[in-house]
Amino acid sequence: MSATITAGSELRPPIYELSNVSKHYGDRAVVALEGVDLKLRKGEFHSVIGSSGCGKSTLLKIMAGLTPPSKGRVILSGTPVMGARPDIGMMFQQATLFPWRTTLQNILLPIEIREGQAAADAARPRATALLELVGLKGFESSYPSQLSGGMAQRAAICRMLVSEPEVLLLDEPFSALDEITRDFMNMELQRICMERNATAFLVTHSISEAVILSDVVHVMSARPGRVVRTVEIDLPRPRALEMTTLPAFGEHVSTIRNLLDKGAFL
Ligand SMILES: Nc1ncnc2c1ncn2[C@@H]1O[C@H](COP(=O)(O)OP(=O)(O)O)[C@@H](O)[C@H]1O
Ligand SMILES: [Mg+2]
Repeated sequence: MSATITAGSELRPPIYELSNVSKHYGDRAVVALEGVDLKLRKGEFHSVIGSSGCGKSTLLKIMAGLTPPSKGRVILSGTPVMGARPDIGMMFQQATLFPWRTTLQNILLPIEIREGQAAADAARPRATALLELVGLKGFESSYPSQLSGGMAQRAAICRMLVSEPEVLLLDEPFSALDEITRDFMNMELQRICMERNATAFLVTHSISEAVILSDVVHVMSARPGRVVRTVEIDLPRPRALEMTTLPAFGEHVSTIRNLLDKGAFL
C-alpha cells in the first residue's frame, strides 16, 4: 500500500494556502525554510514533522503572521496573513499563564488586551463553558501554581479557543508532559477539533503523535527546511489510542520514519 499522496480532497477550496514560502535569517546565513507549499481545508488536521532545527517553528510563526516570510505568500480565508489576527489561535510548548491571574482571568486575557474589559466580561460564559469542555470546571479561580502541567495546558487550550479562531496552530503543545498525560491531551485535542470543525496545524517531532492525530502529515528535511513528502493518514475518526496497534498505523509510522531517516541526504 502506498501511503504517500497529495494532500486532501480537491472538492473543497483550501482555507489556508502557503505558496513557495521561504525564510532566511540574517544575511542569508541560515536558510530556515525553502519553497514550502501547503493547503489546508476546513476541518482538516495537519502535522509537520522533522528533526530539531529543521524550521518547523519558523513555518508556524510565518503561518501565524508573527514573522514575515522572506519569499512567498500566506493566505487565510482569502486574505493575506500580514500580522497577528484573531482568526488564528496559537499554542506553545509552555502554557505561559500569568501566575498572578486566575485560570479564568488568564483565559480572558487575549480578549481583554485586544478588545477591552467589557468584551472580556462578555466572554466569561464562553470561557466557563470551555473550561467545562476540557474538564477544568471548578478551577476557574485557581492560580497556575495550583494546576498540574496537563491542567495548565488545558487552560492554554481554552485561552486559544475563547476567541473562536478558524485555525489552531500548535507548536509541540504537549511535549513537556509525561506520556500518559500527553496521550490523553492528544485525544482531548482531537475531540475539541472535531466538535468545533476546527482546522489544525501541529508541529511535532513524535511520529506516532503525528499519525494518530492527523489527516495529513508533512515530512520536513533539514537545512534548508523543505516539505519533502506529504502523507495522508486514512485511519477512521474518531481516532483511539488502541489504533496504534493496527497494521495500517504501523505502516504509516514506518513510511514516515524512512522518509526522516533519508531526510539528511535529501
Ligand atoms: N530568530 C532567529 N534568528 C536567527 N536564526 C533563527 C531564528 N529562529 C530560528 N533560527 C534558525 O532557523 C533554523 C530553524 O529553526 P526553528 O524554526 O526553530 O526549527 P524547529 O522548530 O524545527 O526546531 C535553525 O537553524 C535556527 O537556529
Ligand atoms: Mg521548534
